[in-house]
Amino acid sequence: MEDNVTLKIGDNSYECPVITGTENEKAFDIRKIRAESGYISYDESYGNTGSCQSEITFINGEEGILRYRGYPIEQLAGSSSFLESTYLIIYGELPSQEQLNLFREKVRRSAEIHVGMENHFDGFPTSSHPMAILSAMLNSLGCYYPEMSSNDRHQDLESFDDAAAVLLSKVRTIAAMTYRMKVGRPFIYPKPDLSYSENFLHMMFSNPYQDFEDKSGLAEALDLFFLLHADHEQNCSTSTVRMVASGGANLFASVSAGVCALWGPLHGGANQAVIKMLQEIHDSGDDGHRFIESAKSGKAKLMGFGHRVYKNYDPRARILGKAAERVLSSIGYENDPLLNIARNLEQAALDDDYFVERKLYPNVDFYSGLILKAAGIPPEFFTVMFAIGRMPGWLANWHEVASNDKARIHRPRQIYQGPAQRDYIPLEQR
Ligand code: CMC
Repeated sequence: MEDNVTLKIGDNSYECPVITGTENEKAFDIRKIRAESGYISYDESYGNTGSCQSEITFINGEEGILRYRGYPIEQLAGSSSFLESTYLIIYGELPSQEQLNLFREKVRRSAEIHVGMENHFDGFPTSSHPMAILSAMLNSLGCYYPEMSSNDRHQDLESFDDAAAVLLSKVRTIAAMTYRMKVGRPFIYPKPDLSYSENFLHMMFSNPYQDFEDKSGLAEALDLFFLLHADHEQNCSTSTVRMVASGGANLFASVSAGVCALWGPLHGGANQAVIKMLQEIHDSGDDGHRFIESAKSGKAKLMGFGHRVYKNYDPRARILGKAAERVLSSIGYENDPLLNIARNLEQAALDDDYFVERKLYPNVDFYSGLILKAAGIPPEFFTVMFAIGRMPGWLANWHEVASNDKARIHRPRQIYQGPAQRDYIPLEQR
């Protein structure tokens, strides 16, 4: 097996050491090439660039494989819970019963937010997008924990366990309070006897005079949704968290940046865009075929389809597709017109040469919106739900950067294509 890759530029050869991953993925290390040759490598949008070595999540996009810390997503989805998988992602091993109890307790005790922070909600117009509020609130949260957000990475690492519990728990409280603020209803406070997802539904939908009753197993479906979103290696938002962390910024600032990166419709915002697309198809009387034709002509994108890494069915979409069927039938919506359109669209795309040749399959966002819609979550909040789920991955990736003594600031290069040097022209001569 090769130890080096030889790069030939003109008459000169350069040796690039080969790095091999646990699952035998290979990279050649070009870090010294610029100093030796003057060349940089060019890979706009990082389609074929490894930005780090990580021990957290493994994806094989060709085969549709996803594992957290070595455990297949199908096994975790079938047997684990969001908080147990969160522990695994952050700490690297499945917890013992005692470790899990302590972790749950720590998250449970961190659910309330400072009353001073509740006043921040008054400063936002009710028309604000919840992702803007979430990002601002998570960054502000650091101000209430100065000892955990010092931007001294050794100090921030010492308080990481507490800060992680604060963020995991309060991201859910902030999301629910944002919803209550936007619909003009009083805040509902977390209850200590409820599970992570039950508490979220309680804070969203209970009333001061009547607790929300989960008659259709929605908390279980949400727990699965969160678990399936918990990490996904170097996606746009996680890379953003690592980028911000590499400059030495604290955990609160880093995950707040992650929320902004997640917001876009090509990333986490796709789950909101899918429901909008399904609704528009429904309202226009199309069964999906007309939309497929416009996606093929480049006029529209089939939202919830395609992925930079998966060139096969996204394993999360397979699990969520089945969960969507279960949830919708538990509330008597098995013939929901949007579910039928989604099924038709999926089949039409999977049979169509355009999608087959480009290896475009349903991704995690294709069915997730249907579950969230069934749970009564407004579409504007779908990406917030993704952010709650992705928090463990952001935390673990921040920790991996901050605890690496050899980590350097992330600083890509560019090829400048602007004007060559020219002389300043005084204003009166222009
Ligand atoms: N509908 C129609 N055509 C598509 C789609 C789509 N959803 N996705 C890719 N293509 C076409 C694209 O036009 C291109 O065609 P051609 O080779 O003729 O120019 C080809 O497939 C390759 O696509 P690409 O844009 O180079 O792929 P990418 O790796 O840059 O983008 C993506 C990946 C996920 C941004 C893209 O597939 C997309 O925009 N999908 C819809 C949005 C979406 O569902 N995003 C959620 C992704 S999964 C969750 C997450 O990351 O948050």
